[in-house]
Amino acid sequence: MSVTVIIGAQWGDEGKGKVVDLLSEKADIVVRVQGGANAGHTVIVGEEKYIFHLIPSGILHKKVECIIGNGVVLDPVSLLEEISVLKKLGINLNGRLHISNRAHLVMPYHKTLDQLREQHAGNGKIGTTGRGIGPAYMDKAARAGIRVVDLLKPKKLKEKIIANIEFVNKMLNGVYNAPEIEAAQIVKQYLRFDKEMDEYITDTGAYLQQALKDRKKIIMEGAQGALLDLDLGTYPYVTSSNTTAGGAATGSGIGPTKIDHVIGVAKAYTTRVGSGPLPTEFPTELGNKVRDKGGEFGATTGRPRRCGWFDAVVVRYACQMSGVDEVVITKLDILDDLDEIKICSDYRHNGKLLKYFPADLEILSEAKPVYIKLKGWKTDTSGIKHFADLPKNAKSYIKHLEKFTGTPIKIISVGAERTQTIKK
Ligand code: GDP
Ligand code: IMO
Ligand code: MG
Repeated sequence: MSVTVIIGAQWGDEGKGKVVDLLSEKADIVVRVQGGANAGHTVIVGEEKYIFHLIPSGILHKKVECIIGNGVVLDPVSLLEEISVLKKLGINLNGRLHISNRAHLVMPYHKTLDQLREQHAGNGKIGTTGRGIGPAYMDKAARAGIRVVDLLKPKKLKEKIIANIEFVNKMLNGVYNAPEIEAAQIVKQYLRFDKEMDEYITDTGAYLQQALKDRKKIIMEGAQGALLDLDLGTYPYVTSSNTTAGGAATGSGIGPTKIDHVIGVAKAYTTRVGSGPLPTEFPTELGNKVRDKGGEFGATTGRPRRCGWFDAVVVRYACQMSGVDEVVITKLDILDDLDEIKICSDYRHNGKLLKYFPADLEILSEAKPVYIKLKGWKTDTSGIKHFADLPKNAKSYIKHLEKFTGTPIKIISVGAERTQTIKK
């Protein structure tokens, strides 16, 4: 038996999809534990490219069972679309996909409210994905949410939807001066989802308890990244779930003592989509160069990602908050042609080194990165399969990352394709 948690150690899009797919080869079960269709996890196998929003990134391995855990906020429209695409590609989901009956549903009005809030936020805009994530988790916390299990009771489901829409319409009217929502269409649509998702719905918590007894190998797939964690991230510029390793326990029903290993995935540089501080952000020209080479455009929204140097303060903090045992470095190849590469080892604020990752975003915005400078390797690494074959300066870069994050690095990714991977 082994339970491994895989989380993002930066601001999301670290390449978790690739890493989960890679490690799923030896797994029995992969569980998505939090977030929703705000996630976009890319897996490339040969010429084929897949982007998963809700379905776990282990699904391409025929023997792997995939679970959407109770911590996820599930948009049935997005899920059914993803299922249909996978089926068309000939991927068999029968008996392999299981959806928690405790997961909360994203409703159409969550998306409306998410988008309206952003439109009215002016400079306070978070830059959300507009997928209704915040409002869905708000309803969950307010104990007004609608869960997958509610789909099984049509009468109650209808009553709940009507009651929630009554409340939503008060907000649309009073706060946003926006047109009201008609309940009938949504009720009709959600009454259908019971039949369309029926074969997948189960008590995934109980299912995983049995899997633990059967000594199955389980991977828990985190979405977003540690710095987007609702509690520990760069609040308020965060998502609305716990993206650190703790979220894997509450989002699946597997207790923390059953987790054997935590992997943090980090890019060889830093990216961020949406608003909020990014202390190591590149100057414009370098930013454009890395964005173009790295294809740094959102897998969910297509938005350009902001790019910067590797921020070891961020990854160190992420590793501490999640008890990360091992870091996987992705996209090393994107730095191949740079003359000089910087790593931010610390932050300085008002002339003093900061001892902790600041909770106060004003301090984080004013913090000046302390950089160490390394020589680039100026060699194409994308075909390299063994650590020993990496150029000397690339090896040195990895060693410095280990030192400044305080965490060993055992896997290095040098290309998007499954096989472009170095295991140390
Ligand atoms: P996730 O959300 O963490 O799964 O990451 P995304 O899929 O949103 O973004 C990562 C992007 O980088 C995707 O386009 C991947 O195909 C790509 N990718 C992953 N690892 C590597 C790598 O080592 N090198 C290159 N060039 N691309 C990579
Ligand atoms: P994956 O799993 C990168 C960001 C949004 C925004 C903030 C809040 O692919 O790494 P939300 O829609 O969640 O309310 O938006 O979080 N964000 C992500 N950034 N990767 C993601 O997912 C993200 N999911 C949300 O850009 O700044
Ligand atoms: Mg992504």
